[in-house]
Amino acid sequence: MEAIMLELNELEYLHNAAVCVDRLGKIVAVETDCNQQKAIETVYTRLGWSLDNVSVTLARAGQFFFPGFVDTHIHASQYPNVGVFGKSTLLDWLNKYTFPMEASLSSLPKAHRVYTRCIRQTLAHGTTTAAYYATIDVNATNLLADLCYSMGQRAFVGRVCMDHLGPEYYIDESPDQALAATRATIEHIRGLDSGFEIVSPILTPRFAPACSAETMRGLSELQKQTQLPMQTHISENANEIELVKELFPDSKSYANVYDTYGILNEKMILAHAVHLTEEEADLIAERKTKVAHCPVSNSALSSGVARVRWLLEKGIQVGLGTDVSGGYSPSILEAARQAKLVSNHLAMPGGRSDNLPQEERDKSKLSVDEVLYLATKGGAQVVGLADKIGAFQVGMQWDAQLVDLGAVPAEVAEDDFTIDGSVDIFGWEEWDECIAKWVFNGDSRNTKKVWVQGRLVHQQT
Ligand code: GUN
Ligand code: FE
Repeated sequence: MEAIMLELNELEYLHNAAVCVDRLGKIVAVETDCNQQKAIETVYTRLGWSLDNVSVTLARAGQFFFPGFVDTHIHASQYPNVGVFGKSTLLDWLNKYTFPMEASLSSLPKAHRVYTRCIRQTLAHGTTTAAYYATIDVNATNLLADLCYSMGQRAFVGRVCMDHLGPEYYIDESPDQALAATRATIEHIRGLDSGFEIVSPILTPRFAPACSAETMRGLSELQKQTQLPMQTHISENANEIELVKELFPDSKSYANVYDTYGILNEKMILAHAVHLTEEEADLIAERKTKVAHCPVSNSALSSGVARVRWLLEKGIQVGLGTDVSGGYSPSILEAARQAKLVSNHLAMPGGRSDNLPQEERDKSKLSVDEVLYLATKGGAQVVGLADKIGAFQVGMQWDAQLVDLGAVPAEVAEDDFTIDGSVDIFGWEEWDECIAKWVFNGDSRNTKKVWVQGRLVHQQT
């Protein structure tokens, strides 16, 4: 069985389906309600292909194919810190845990260990595309790109720009140096993957407080020349917003700072967007700027509850981010689960929507189908790859995961075991209930195989 998201609240189930993928990883046919052997013969005859070299991956009872997850915001360089945040909030967390860890990755053997583990773990959790922040170190950033390429994860790799307010042991010397270092990483990745097919550079001003006006302006120019995507943080935490007001007294708002320097556009991914004002959200919608929703991090660092429904209703495209290590988990399935739960908080009494009528508050709640949309198609839109990944449609890439519900607690009767010993989980549950069980109880043990552009990049042993 295959399951894909059609629209925000519409998960399509393709039963008895066959997805045919060519050697370059492109989906060339999708046949539904078919006998498997017949489907292969029909499609291959139609395409004029030989049947000799066909490799077939079957989903057994209780298994299904699902589009690979897109992590629209993750700091690979913070991976060793997952779960370590104590009672800190954003600004003290950055100084206490984050900057020392990132700075330590100028040691290439350490960067190699950390980045390898991060990629291996995110692949094992079904993340086929990730928008990564690395560090300010060019060599270590280039190494992250090399590792994504060799391990086969589709990735956007950002060399972090921060020439302002950083600790003296971890800061860019000047805007010129920050921009030269960014260009060096772009050139490196061009040498690795000239068309940026699997690995692409992404321009990465850390956030407004850490960037001088010259650096933001320079990155805007560089973006005009290269057409590359960009990523940063916005309006995550109350103290951060105060700091932005102090640093940019002439700007009307946080979003306005980015707009002033020409980087609030359709290629920008803004992480968090928790405390935006109505005017800021309207400006972001107008500029077609994207949002990475990071619910796990927002709860862990007690940043706040982002209003995803409100953003979506303004027409803003939203994806999910783990925000490792503000977020404690490398799993987008966990981010999806938490996106659902924090959206419920908006409907509860005592929250930030208390002044709204109950009916309005109830609208804030996201469904299981909606959070799965954010995890796949929404994420694909955010990283600018909506025509390439996020669903199983002819012409798209085979970026997919094979999920096995066997480890999910379900009412399994003795006679539900199939001949080959796998568990037929269909006790009383319908497919949508099985999917809900996966979202709330599943983890990487359910992710049996993962492919990026047709290449098998993870397999459970
Ligand atoms: N704002 C600036 N840098 C960071 C970071 O590394 N993580 C998070 N969550 N927010 C940030
Ligand atoms: Fe972040």
